[in-house]
Amino acid sequence: MPAASKAPATAAGGRPSVADILAMARAKNEPSSPPKAVAEAEKPTAKPAAAKPSAPKPPAATAAGRAGVQRDTASILAAARAAAKPGPVSKAEAPVRPAAAKPKPPAEKTVARAVPPKPTRPVTKVSSKAEGEDRRSFLEIATGSFMAIGFTALSVTGGLFSLGLARFFFPNVLAEPPSKFKVGAKDGFPSGKVETKFVAQYGVWVVNGDVQGLQQIYALKTVCTHLGCTPSWLEAEQKFKCPCHGSGFYKDGVNFEGPAPRPLERYAIRIADDGQLEVDKSRTFHEELGQWADPDSFVTV
Ligand code: FES
Repeated sequence: MPAASKAPATAAGGRPSVADILAMARAKNEPSSPPKAVAEAEKPTAKPAAAKPSAPKPPAATAAGRAGVQRDTASILAAARAAAKPGPVSKAEAPVRPAAAKPKPPAEKTVARAVPPKPTRPVTKVSSKAEGEDRRSFLEIATGSFMAIGFTALSVTGGLFSLGLARFFFPNVLAEPPSKFKVGAKDGFPSGKVETKFVAQYGVWVVNGDVQGLQQIYALKTVCTHLGCTPSWLEAEQKFKCPCHGSGFYKDGVNFEGPAPRPLERYAIRIADDGQLEVDKSRTFHEELGQWADPDSFVTV
């Protein structure tokens, strides 16, 4: 070992100075020694007052040596800082970390935070439920339709019943001609004349004829005594002829051919207060019953 390194340690009689420590470390040439030597060297700096007055400076410490010591000290301190654990640093000294260097959270945490998928229901259950809903809807629609049809039919039936009831309370009224009607003065009916102009309106023949030697004006009913047909007056043949079965009647109404069982009927007739002939259809006279002899069944001319 060099003599310069031993002399300061003995001369100080206490703790070695920084230069001594550096010299010792340089002599050892051990890479791991600088941080330890520096750590030990930094300790005496906390108490400089006691060491500086007693420790004599070595004569070999020249300017060039100090420069080398300073250079080595800086490098050793840098190595010590690099080896040492990072302590609290200021913002200016803190290294700028790139944004990309920021560590991303592990993928496992992301997966753990993700919501687990819900279990899907079997397709068969969904289809059966939909099918049930469809069947329920169909039944509801069918029931509604049947009810609508039923109510409609009931309404129509009720309406028809109401119309029938109203019809019952207000029946058709046939405007029948009055039973009594005037046909004019007896002078308007010449002897032997059969007046047919009242057939369509009143169903009556007004005849001025000879009945058993008496000239009379009488009113014959235009209804065949067989089955109710309306005979026709045949002027040329001077008879009433029924078109249905061929019954024939004389001018006075007595049947003489065909199936008619009896003579035509007469209506009542009289001379009204105004001198006109008035026929009353509410009363009839039958020859077979001897009713033609009734004075109400004729008007004497
Ligand atoms: Fe007149 Fe039969 S209805 S003949």
